[in-house]
Amino acid sequence: MVMNKTRLAVTCHLMRREDLPEVLVIESLSFAEPWTEEMFLHELNSERIAESLVARVDEGSGERIVGFLCAWIVSGELHINNLAVHPGYRGRGVAAQLLEEMLVRAHAKSVTVGYLEVRASNEAAAALYKSYGFQPIGRRRNYYDHPREDAIVMRRQPL
Ligand SMILES: CC(C)(COP(=O)(O)OP(=O)(O)OC[C@H]1O[C@@H](n2cnc3c(N)ncnc32)[C@H](O)[C@@H]1OP(=O)(O)O)[C@@H](O)C(=O)NCCC(=O)NCCS
Repeated sequence: MVMNKTRLAVTCHLMRREDLPEVLVIESLSFAEPWTEEMFLHELNSERIAESLVARVDEGSGERIVGFLCAWIVSGELHINNLAVHPGYRGRGVAAQLLEEMLVRAHAKSVTVGYLEVRASNEAAAALYKSYGFQPIGRRRNYYDHPREDAIVMRRQPL
């Protein structure tokens, strides 16, 4: 469990269509090859397996979305497909809270194993996942483009 005294208090909710403008800004600030609106809509329309969360913060002047996590829960497995936090809100436990909420939801559905892929150079994400018990189990060569890079496959089992 991550202990972070400077944790920003966020609330995690299921992503809605009207959240997409804010989500797309965070996505484009976070990745060289961002998911498109259509890709997020596909997640939102795949209710049977897809579970997408947003983290909201209320700083007095209204709520804003500061991060999101997209996952699939299928065949007793959790697959984390996308996770990003707004650059202005990183290092304050937002990703940790999104991950914790998703793990609670997965446990409630009797999920026993979790998988994800992460760029080989993404030390921040790898450290986050390791701190939640995900272990590297393999490497997919040249999995990513722009820049071309391997993916590290990580698994947490039991979840
Ligand atoms: C990876 C990312 C989601 C982390 O979000 P975050 O809200 O800043 O992470 P948190 O503050 O919740 O950090 C939780 C843990 O992750 C690890 N971590 C987070 N950022 C880190 C960094 N820059 N360097 C090393 N470890 C880091 C630490 O273990 C941290 O625990 P600690 O605070 O007790 O040290 C964020 O950096 C991001 O959006 N990056 C761009 C998109 C991306 O790479 N997504 C992941 C794709 S697989």
